[in-house]
Formats: sequence, C-alpha cells, structure tokens
Amino acid sequence: MRGRIPDSFIDELLARVDIVDVIERRVPLKKAGREWTACCPFHNERTPSFYVSPAKQFFHCFGCGAHGSAVKFLMDYERLEFPDAVEELAQSVGLTVPREGGDDRAPREDKTDLYAMLDAAARWYENELPKSAEAKAYCKKRGLDAQTIERFRIGWAPAGFDGVIKALGGSDKRMHLLNEAGMVASNERGNRYDRFRERLMFPILDRRGRVIAFGGRIISSAPPAREGQEADIPARTPQKEPGPKYLNSPETPLFHKGRELFALWQVKQANPSLARIVVVEGYMDVIAMHQAGLPIAVATLGTATTPEHTEVLFRAAPDVVFCFDGDRAGRAAAWKALESALPRLRDGRQAYFLFLPDGEDPDTLIRKEGKDGFEKRLKEAMPLSAYFFGELAHDVDTASLDGRARLAERARPLIARLPDGAFRDLMAQELEKRTGARAVLDADPSARRAVQRPIVVQRSLVRSAIALLLAQPGVADQVERPYGFLRMDKPGVELLAELIDLARSRPGINPAMLVEHFAERPEYPALQKLMAAMVVGEPETQRAEFFDALARMEEQAIVQRRDWLTAKSREGTLDSAEKAELRELLAARVAPVKVP
Ligand code: UTP
Ligand code: MN
Repeated sequence: MRGRIPDSFIDELLARVDIVDVIERRVPLKKAGREWTACCPFHNERTPSFYVSPAKQFFHCFGCGAHGSAVKFLMDYERLEFPDAVEELAQSVGLTVPREGGDDRAPREDKTDLYAMLDAAARWYENELPKSAEAKAYCKKRGLDAQTIERFRIGWAPAGFDGVIKALGGSDKRMHLLNEAGMVASNERGNRYDRFRERLMFPILDRRGRVIAFGGRIISSAPPAREGQEADIPARTPQKEPGPKYLNSPETPLFHKGRELFALWQVKQANPSLARIVVVEGYMDVIAMHQAGLPIAVATLGTATTPEHTEVLFRAAPDVVFCFDGDRAGRAAAWKALESALPRLRDGRQAYFLFLPDGEDPDTLIRKEGKDGFEKRLKEAMPLSAYFFGELAHDVDTASLDGRARLAERARPLIARLPDGAFRDLMAQELEKRTGARAVLDADPSARRAVQRPIVVQRSLVRSAIALLLAQPGVADQVERPYGFLRMDKPGVELLAELIDLARSRPGINPAMLVEHFAERPEYPALQKLMAAMVVGEPETQRAEFFDALARMEEQAIVQRRDWLTAKSREGTLDSAEKAELRELLAARVAPVKVP
C-alpha cells in the first residue's frame, strides 16, 4: 500500500501549478477575455464551450458539464487514478509527493536509485570512450576537444549486447532499475539486452545536472554489420535497418522529451544570468557552439518545440532565438515553434528566428565562420513579428482587397493567442496597418468586452508601478499592507509586491541596488529596461503617479472581482458569503483613490 497523500500537499500542489499550463500542454487553448477556451476534449463539438479560468484555477465545459481542478483534468484526460494524477502534476513542478503512514517506500527513494543508476551508466560510458580507437577517432573527426568531452560527459557504448547489464545489472533490483531507466530493451522471449550499442553517448541532464536519459549516435556511415533492428536479438533476425542515426532513451519516470532541453544545465552553469538563449536542432550543434565559445545553445530531443519547452526557454532568458535549417522541414519546424511561443510571449519576452543557408547546420557553420560569424547571424535573426507576417503573407497579394482579407483571416486567431500586453497591441496594429482590418478587437467578442474594461491599461499599470518604484524605492515605505493590488489577476503584481517588500526591508536602497537583487533572475533585463525608461522625470510627479497606479490597480481588482461575482450570480451559484461580498461591492462602487 502506498501511504495517503496529505491534504495540505494537494493545497500546495494546486497553489503551485497553473491549470492553464496543465491543460494547454494537452489541448490548445485560445484566450477569450480573462478565460481560455477550446473545443471540449471530453465531448464532440465544433464550437468551443470548454473554458479554463486562470483566476479560479478551474475548468468547466458548458456543453457536457465536465469541470474541476488541474488534478481532475488529468484524471479525466489521461485516465489516471487520483494518486497518479497527483504524482504527475507534482513531478511537473518539481515537488515530491509525501505519504502518510504507508509501508511502501516513498517514490522519492526509488527515484534516487534511478538517478544513481543513470549516473553510473554515464560514468561507465565515459570510461569506455578512451578504450575505443574508433570512438576516439570519431570524436577527433568531429573536432571535439577533451574539455568538451568532459563537460558534456560524452561516452561510448561498446559493441555487444550486455556491456551495461554486466557492469551494472548485478541483481534483480539493479536489472529492474536499468529497465526502468530505459537502459535495456527486451525481445519477445523476455531476454534483456543493452539498448545502446556501438554509439557515441550524450547524457541528457535535468535542470539540476542529474543524468536522466541518453542520446546515442552511430558513428559508422555503413550499417553496423551485426546489428539487427532495434528491438530484436541479432541471431534471430536477418539484417534490417542499421537503427536510427540518433537513438534516444524512451520516456521514463525521469525523462519526458516534451519537457527537457539538451544542455540547459551546461548553459546555466556557464551563464549566471542570460540575456539570450538559442534553440538548435541537434546535439552536435549545441556542442559545437559551446566549444566555440557560445555556451548559450540548447536543443530539443528529436521532437518539435512544445509550449512547455518554450516556457522553460523564456524562464531561462528573455530573448529566445529559434534556429532552423532553411529547408522545407526547417521552415515547418520553425512555424511550429512560433505557434508554441505565441501564448508565452508576455511583455518583456522576445522570440527571434534564424534560418541557416542550405546544407548547413550550426555545427558546420560555426566551424566555418567562427564564433563572431555566428554571433553576427544571431544578431540579424528575424524578430517574430517579421517572420509571422512574412510567412502569412507569402502567398497572398496584399495589393488586393481579397488578399488583405485572407491575411487578416489567417493572422487574427494567432494574434488572439498572444497574452494581453503591449506586444499583442503592436501585432494587432501591424495587422491593421497591413490589411486595414481590426485584429483582436473584432476577432472575438470577449476581447471586445475587454476594450470597455481596459485590460491593456491594467497591464501597463503594473509595469508603470514597477518602473516608478524602481525609480524611487523610498516610496515603498508608504505602501500600506495588505497590498490590495495583489488581488488583481495580472502578471507582474507579485513581482511588484516582492519589490515593495524588498525596498521596505532595506531603507535607503537605491534603484540600481534594487535592480541588482534580480541579477540572476529572468526578470532582470526587463527590470533594467523599465528602470531605464524612468531615468528622466520629476520625483514628486513620479511619486504621485506611483500611488495613483496602485490605487487604480486596486480599483480594477475590485471591478474584476465584482464582475466575476456578477457572472456567477447569473449562473445562480453564489454561496452566501459571496452574495454578501457582491452586495458590498455593488454598494461601495469603486473605492476613491487615496494618495498619501
Ligand atoms: P540531424 O539528422 O540533423 O543530425 O538531426 P545532426 O544534429 O546534424 O547530427 P550530426 O551532425 O550528423 O551528428 C538533428 C537532431 O534530430 C534528432 C537528434 O536530436 C539530432 O541531434 N534525431 C535525428 C533523432 O532523434 N534521431 C535520428 O535518427 C536523427
Ligand atoms: Mn550536423
């Protein structure tokens, strides 16, 4: 029996995950006012009646009535039992599920063993490399120096079917772990054999530098003569494929391809704070860039860029450059990456696209052009907006009315996927400029509502408040607690609260010091920009503007709450406390602005 999961943990978990993220990974969502919407994954429909509320952390389908929390969604969507849904969610945010009174070993211990096993395997491959003349020769041919081999823990899986098994699989338990770690495969008769053979091995590390999987590259161009297809024992099978050029570990409890990025650990090690991160297609591309002095590259692992990858990327750096081959496949992959980036493009985040000349990849290019040449290309990468409009307009004649209408039709739903903010406004303006058609506002009725309630203004309010605070941290002393603006459901409010707390705890802190506190945080460049915008200005005016912004944020928090309660009351689902609250809010109207 596994022990019971304590309620307090579920609370913590639901506080930690964002239901929009959880669902978006599985069902593409579209912004609709404050909610997100999609065609319901639980029944068949053509117009969306499935809504996800970030404020409530709840989903609801007006068509079939399905509803619930993030845990419930996973249970329904992935057909998981409650404890497994909790495990899965917890893992996605790096939490370990505690258990009360079970006699089973906690899953964490199992994982510890798995990590140890994978690390031992990496070490074993590393030790094998110097013993293999052909592997060494291959590394030399690819230009890998000793430091790079060490930094990436590159190794060699020798020929034979039981190298790893003999070295590490000495007991039933160890064999079980090897299997769970994805290091062995088995044939129909249940015989186990090493999954990776005669391959150059690249360990895949997690965000804490632990080995969680491997990629292995064949090094001969001719098919390995003795090797059968991946899942077969050779003697039983006539020769088939040589196996893929790169073989990756299968999905395991520790390894989820859609979430991991090769070399993110090395990038973080090399850069305490990072303005720009580059996503390339291959292991060798990443490695060549690091070796050439550009330790800012990561790669997806033989999969398309997922929204989850994009979020990880933007958490690592405010600017993300997606780098692709210039061929058809590369273009298709780039558009996929763009689509996965759209919902993540909050203000302060920028995506760029870099297309390489035919027949080149970053590995070959950086060897030809050097670090400087490649950096120059990075600097000239296309901003997302240019790529977006270029791609959408490539086969339409924007001189004709029809063509412009078609462009508008294509662009609108995509622009609607951008989060509220200055960037979305700019993209909508750009579309209007190019087509004469209003973008977001006409695209979706809930966005039209948003015009009456100035959502865009709300967002820039948070930004202004942050900028004004940075300009003059002393104003924080006069902000009263509890911070009413925290009730506003907008990105940035927590950062504002954090900044105010910090400024209060250090009387006399100056703007530069305040910003430096964030030096290792992803918000750093954005904060620097905001501060830069405030360099000129009258302190007294800025002080007044700061308190005015806070007061308006509080007002809007109240309006949001009131509207939400009003909508809920129309559904007839208010409880008595909510009814009282709504009456109070309606009576009070909006609190007068208070400037100390
Ligand atoms: P490429 O085939 O473009 O190879 O695959 P590459 O990166 O240039 O590799 P080298 O230079 O020939 O060594 C790009 C990426 O796609 C994934 C791998 O992650 C690879 O790095 N891939 C490719 C696979 O997962 N399996 C394959 O069989 C091939
Ligand atoms: Mn290559």
